[in-house]
Amino acid sequence: MEHLIADIDIIEPTQTAVSCEVKISKDAGLPGKKLYIESYGCQMNFSDSEIVTSILQKEGYSTTDTIENADLVLLNTCSIREKAELTVRKRLIAFNKIKSNNPGMTIGILGCMAERLKAQLLEEEHIVDLVVGPDAYRDLPNLVKNAEEGQKGVNTFLSREETYADISPIRLNSNGVTAFISIMRGCDNMCSFCVVPFTRGRERSRDPQSIISEAQDLFSKGYREVTLLGQNVDSYKWSADENNKARINKLKISEVINFAHLLKLVAQIDPDLRVRFSTSHPKDITDEVLHTIRDFENICKYIHLPAQSGNSRVLALMNRTYNRDWYINRVDAIRRILGEECGISSDMITGFCSETEPDHKDTLSLMDYVQYDFSYMFFYSERPGTLAAKNYPDDIPLEIKKRRLQEIITKQNEISLHRNQLDLGKVFKVLIEGKSKRSDEHLQGRTSSNKVVVFKDDKHMKGQYVTVTINDCTSATLLGDLTE
Ligand code: SAH
Ligand code: SF4
Ligand code: F3S
Repeated sequence: MEHLIADIDIIEPTQTAVSCEVKISKDAGLPGKKLYIESYGCQMNFSDSEIVTSILQKEGYSTTDTIENADLVLLNTCSIREKAELTVRKRLIAFNKIKSNNPGMTIGILGCMAERLKAQLLEEEHIVDLVVGPDAYRDLPNLVKNAEEGQKGVNTFLSREETYADISPIRLNSNGVTAFISIMRGCDNMCSFCVVPFTRGRERSRDPQSIISEAQDLFSKGYREVTLLGQNVDSYKWSADENNKARINKLKISEVINFAHLLKLVAQIDPDLRVRFSTSHPKDITDEVLHTIRDFENICKYIHLPAQSGNSRVLALMNRTYNRDWYINRVDAIRRILGEECGISSDMITGFCSETEPDHKDTLSLMDYVQYDFSYMFFYSERPGTLAAKNYPDDIPLEIKKRRLQEIITKQNEISLHRNQLDLGKVFKVLIEGKSKRSDEHLQGRTSSNKVVVFKDDKHMKGQYVTVTINDCTSATLLGDLTE
């Protein structure tokens, strides 16, 4: 799973990100204007690009993966670490050349960097015509039209209600088997290192009926796996009057749908539809959710449970609102209710403000305790405006941050290999996602616990379930044979 373990230079994949960039589908060959969109950052951004494409398709835009042919170029950006923003700045330099050959092209910045920097982006990057934050995409047609008439525009209004519930996303770069469904937006936690609450605004949950309809529609089109997305899925909460939270207490409990209930509703659509979710927050994940996962075969036995650090003092400075013991208690609950085979992964940050060598050792020992299947690992990058930037000096030298990062990466590789070796000889149900990169004779899919399995097969196709016996592995992949 090389792509899942960020090394020092490959820093940008976040929770469920599978690549740093997506170019949208091939030229549709339709008349009218052409849209080219690139996405960076987390899966929420990739999901938003599908909403943006849907909004613009209604305006007559078709998609292209050739930037030179585009009338409208959109970059959906990420601010999570400094490097994420630098990547976008570099991309804009490349766009300069392309635009000089195509002066009619409109260039827009969407997403978290747009929200963080607002009109400043127009001043700093002259090539940019539009700056549009994550809650303002419905205004895109209007902003694009004005830009075409020479009027640059900014809309970074953050909403307390917007969930784009009524918009059917246009799936981009899809394998036709797995898809993401956004179930909530924003984040109300204030982890001190994190820019997301500032770029995505207040947390709000999407109408469950629209989530279920979207999953049903995907299933009817042949999709066999949906991943429910939110920054903190465990705090999903919807009532008939969600926008007036004060009234929730007056409602009967059955009228309020929590995450466990939502999971159940989606799992009941069809036993052949796998359900995944991301991200779980250690402070909020409940035994009720774990029991629901246990009770449905099609809810995948895999939990992304970012720890960030294994040291309680650092966790307090990070404002994660749990300590090491609490985290371990949640992991023990997962093992007790879902068993040893349940996949667990994490996000880790090295070199957070004031982190000492013993604090860092606590992160390594937590990794030993939990036995993560994989982790996304980063060194701390101070973000302007966050609580940490305001209150704590960024005092760990870069070489030390990087050395500690390398140590946790090495540890994770060892643990991932060990976890995979435990699967040798076992039989797993695998959902086929497509051909393997290694050869046309091999297919690849995933186990319920989210491990990639490669096996030789010329009989089945993507979207089908098969059983595979594991006979070899690397730290990244299980290799096996079809079980007759
Ligand atoms: N909502 C998710 C995380 C979203 S951001 C959660 O709470 O777990 C994805 C990951 O990026 C975080 O888990 C964290 O490990 C990392 N990250 C966020 N801000 C960072 C920063 N300032 N420097 C380095 N890594 C950061
Ligand atoms: Fe950021 Fe914390 Fe919210 Fe995750 S839970 S998005 S790390 S503030
Ligand atoms: Fe996601 Fe990056 Fe924004 S991780 S929420 S795109 S800051």
